[in-house]
Amino acid sequence: MKRLWASRFQKPRRDLDAWQASYPVDRRLWREEVEATRAYARALHEAGVLSDAEFQALAEALHRLADQESPAGDFEDVHTAVEAVLAEVVGPVAAKVATGRSRNEDVVTIEKLYIRRAGGDLLGGIRSLQASLVRQAERHVETVVPGYTHLRQAQPMTWGFYLMSWFFALERDRDRFWTALRRMDACPYGSGALTGTTVPIDRAALARRLGFGGPTDNALDAVSDRDFILDFLYACLTVGIHLSRMAEDWILFSGDEFGWLVLDETLTTSSSLLPHKRNPDVLELVRGLAGRWLGALVGLSMTLKGLPWGYSKDLQWDKTYLLETSEDLRQALTVMRQVVDGTTVRADVARARLQTWTLTVELVDFLVARGVPFRTAQQAVAQFVAHAEAVGRPPESFTPAELAEWLPVVDESIRQVWDPAVAVRRRSLPGGTSPDAVRQQIEKAWRILQERDGIPDVGSRVLES
Ligand code: ARG
Repeated sequence: MKRLWASRFQKPRRDLDAWQASYPVDRRLWREEVEATRAYARALHEAGVLSDAEFQALAEALHRLADQESPAGDFEDVHTAVEAVLAEVVGPVAAKVATGRSRNEDVVTIEKLYIRRAGGDLLGGIRSLQASLVRQAERHVETVVPGYTHLRQAQPMTWGFYLMSWFFALERDRDRFWTALRRMDACPYGSGALTGTTVPIDRAALARRLGFGGPTDNALDAVSDRDFILDFLYACLTVGIHLSRMAEDWILFSGDEFGWLVLDETLTTSSSLLPHKRNPDVLELVRGLAGRWLGALVGLSMTLKGLPWGYSKDLQWDKTYLLETSEDLRQALTVMRQVVDGTTVRADVARARLQTWTLTVELVDFLVARGVPFRTAQQAVAQFVAHAEAVGRPPESFTPAELAEWLPVVDESIRQVWDPAVAVRRRSLPGGTSPDAVRQQIEKAWRILQERDGIPDVGSRVLES
């Protein structure tokens, strides 16, 4: 195996040699390693460590390597691979490219570069899902469906209102990514193995060239820090938890007992035995992923807890958590966007499923509007509900005269409480489910999507090396 440290002793056992290597995992950071090494080479050139010709040769070679796939090979890790391949391309000068640089600082630098790129992709993925939600919401500001608490029918709501609730939840998720990206916005290069470097590189210039706000403040902290990965994993997890709840609702509402959502059949699978099945497998996979993402966050936290400050090889496990989580989340976001785009609402079924009991709170409002104290009104209606249930009659079948036996004030206009469209329209304060309130939310959502795009602060800086 190719490694960078064959100087002090011969080598470990052959089987251990392969086992302790990380290239099978961290080769996915090839592009970041090449990009970072190129910037580092320029810093070395400016510090007088590399001649013009040496730098030219290295920079050109690295430029070409950036577009290549990570090569197959028996390398200990991606840092080794880039240096080894560089040596094949430019010869002995490659041996100078890591002057004064430790893998301990290198690994965190490229992980941060990866998180910035992946974070940008994920922000884009969330944004597309949000846009799909808003587009669907626009079509369903008037569509009435049952709303639930305790998974029992609670009140009618509009489907547009429901969809917009996910828009705002996902907006907080975007915010969590921004926070995570901003907090990790410092470049570790120049930290050496733990105490800083003796090579007189311009750390601030190097940091800027790699798109960071500046260099890290303390070398030991820089090489020990993995909380930037915890931040990122937590941001991923929160989206994941949201997607899992969303997936669960879609599974329920499109299921036989609810039935008012219809999933595009290209997003379902069938059964190896039961010909009629149309299973929501993709949604179930998304629902299941949140558990893995929580596992990643807990797994890395456990690795870090009690770990001696400074680099230890335990930290090598961080990349599995980081890479798997961000790649799975990207897929899940695409799937959920396809689901949202490919769902049709059967308003007739939703209306038929909606129970009139969900409108008995309108009776309470009716009484309160006519001066009955709220608690008195609520108790009177509760007694009426108990009676209606006991005699087995739906509440809307009671005439105003019959209602008057239970309620302190009744007039003819009481009949309109049984219209769910009216109930929905009455929730018209900002944030409510009425068509107008939802239109306001939609307007705000488009504004947000327009104003907050990309990765503010961090993404606006241009990468050049
Ligand atoms: N492959 C290692 C990792 O992923 C790189 C850092 C190695 N540093 C060391 N001192 N062994 O963590």
